[in-house]
Amino acid sequence: MDRNEATGRIEALRKKIREHDRRYYVDAAPTIADAAYDALRRELARLEEAFPDLVTPDSPTQRVGAPPRSELPKVEHLRAMLSLESVVDTEEAREFDRRVLRGLGRERVDYVAEPKFDGLSLELVYEQGLLARAATRGDGQVGEEVTPNARTIDSVPLQLAGGAPPRLAVRGEALMQLADFRRLNRRMTELGQNAFANPRNAAAGSIRQLDSRITAERPLTFFAYGIMLISGAPAPATHAAELDLLATWGFRVDERRRRCPSIEEAIAFHAELAATRDDLPFEIDGVVVSVDERAAREALGERSRSPRWSIALKFEPRKEVTTVEEIVVQVGRTGKLTPVALLRPVDVSGVTVSRATLHNAGEVTRKDVRAGDTVRIQRAGDVIPAVVERIPREGETRAEPFLMPASCPACGAAVEKEGALHFCPNGLACPAQLRRGIEHFVSRGALDVTGLGTKSVGTFVERGLVRGVADLFRLRREDLVELEGFGDTSADSLLAALEKAKRIPLDRFLYALGIRNVGEHVARLLAARFGTLEAIAAADEEALLAVREVGPEVARRVVEFFGAVRSRGLLDELDGLGVEVLAVEQTDEPALLEGKTFVFTGSLERYTREEAGRIVEQLGGRAAKSVSKKTDYVVAGPGAGSKAEKARTLGVPVISEEEFAALVEATP
Ligand code: IVH
Repeated sequence: MDRNEATGRIEALRKKIREHDRRYYVDAAPTIADAAYDALRRELARLEEAFPDLVTPDSPTQRVGAPPRSELPKVEHLRAMLSLESVVDTEEAREFDRRVLRGLGRERVDYVAEPKFDGLSLELVYEQGLLARAATRGDGQVGEEVTPNARTIDSVPLQLAGGAPPRLAVRGEALMQLADFRRLNRRMTELGQNAFANPRNAAAGSIRQLDSRITAERPLTFFAYGIMLISGAPAPATHAAELDLLATWGFRVDERRRRCPSIEEAIAFHAELAATRDDLPFEIDGVVVSVDERAAREALGERSRSPRWSIALKFEPRKEVTTVEEIVVQVGRTGKLTPVALLRPVDVSGVTVSRATLHNAGEVTRKDVRAGDTVRIQRAGDVIPAVVERIPREGETRAEPFLMPASCPACGAAVEKEGALHFCPNGLACPAQLRRGIEHFVSRGALDVTGLGTKSVGTFVERGLVRGVADLFRLRREDLVELEGFGDTSADSLLAALEKAKRIPLDRFLYALGIRNVGEHVARLLAARFGTLEAIAAADEEALLAVREVGPEVARRVVEFFGAVRSRGLLDELDGLGVEVLAVEQTDEPALLEGKTFVFTGSLERYTREEAGRIVEQLGGRAAKSVSKKTDYVVAGPGAGSKAEKARTLGVPVISEEEFAALVEATP
């Protein structure tokens, strides 16, 4: 990736991360899976490492979270409240172990493994043994002061037992136990109030009350897990001793912690807890594995956001069992019909799930899912949960098998079959496709119009205000203020956002057009090769096929799109409305690792396996698992075994991680 591309990508990543931070920390309503969020953070960190001069003080890597909400007073933490690097794969835990051992120059180190509580992190400050202040984490530097609220939690000692140091800052988690959560939700429903989606939201919502009398009615529990600062007394030499000391002062410390003489024991502890997590009285979402010795922690140090001596080993996404209430058919942007199971709502690791995709008609038949069935659903790496399987029940009476409708549920057009898939052929004349097309047009990777959500798009389409994407630029203030949910301010800011979106880089514009098979990645490739919209519109299939990664299907769709009278009309219309497609810099260079296959073996220091693979792919190459004659390079780190040997017998070059880094960093 060159500097130019990196600049763009870094900005895009920062924007996405900030948005998700806001949703998570401020709104307490995340819309992204943790793993996907972590991947964004890691990609940003890696790019900033490769281009250190692009690091700016306001980058999400330069602080620990999102800004605190304004209603509660802000306080600066005595010590930064760091976050933890989190991984799901046990292999990554082993990599963490290797990094730790290498960093310490040791053969072995003791760890402490403990549950990762799924609640809200708090800093409690004690002066002369008395609770002086409590604060939420906020952005890690500055949090919200919630002392009166924390004082209402039974498990927060107001006065420390035993010989207390003059000053102490303790970190721990406030959470709501499951039984308490259920009871509270029942009560709220009875009172006609909205129930909380999960215990974590309930805990966060309760702590961050302006009126602490409300907090007092909420059953919260505080678990301590660390000393952030201690004055006038020596800090405990190990984490195990630290936890014991916390307990002697009167803090609640979970007994499920384990001292592990190697990472393997910590991994085993993780597996044990994963198997029994449902028996716990509160939610945990993984295991925290930390170096036990304080001196070793200090030697390893910290990154800006997280310590080098600790890692969160998260649990696999949860599966849940529920029943299908109905199977409906959803019409996508391209007209594709997707069967969707409407479910009896169920909490899947903290998110209420009430619908799950069944992908296509074939899947429904293969899994034999019908209305009324009991099914297992999974919320995996993305936010759309899927039906994994049907669970047959003895003696059940079942509904008729599901059949794909013959006509589009949104517009009634006769459905067409393409291979295993069904489509509504009605294009933008179908209201469902129009809605999705507009949602796509204004989405983040496309025109990125802020303040234009699904609901408003739906209203515009219903009211006939928008019959095609170009109509967005014809919206008038007087039309908007009439609509429910729009005030003067939101109307003005939407119009301003639309005005701003009119100057749009070529790659994002191409993506916005919603040409089948042209995703963000292909759009970038096409933009980089052709530079202008005119050049792409004029390209024939052969010229398109010359672009790396562009196959016949993409080439055909692009030519078809720009050849269609309707598309030409749309482009003219947008042009007439003042949309200006900005040319991008053209690159003719083939990618650095074009067509090259890499295999990674042994342990890597600089990158995780996943990162290394991604770098290779970004540069046009491929990362494979096994070595063959077709392998171009084997990158071998310490501990490389049979793969490196096989490479040598096959005459495949074996290079070190440093050599690999030099190779990829030579990118223009
Ligand atoms: S140790 C320097 N231990 O998980 C960081 N954190 O992603 C010290 N958490 O923000 C954190 N249980 O709120 C630690 N037993 C535990 C934890 C724990 C939950 C939370 C904590 C942190 C997040 C890390």
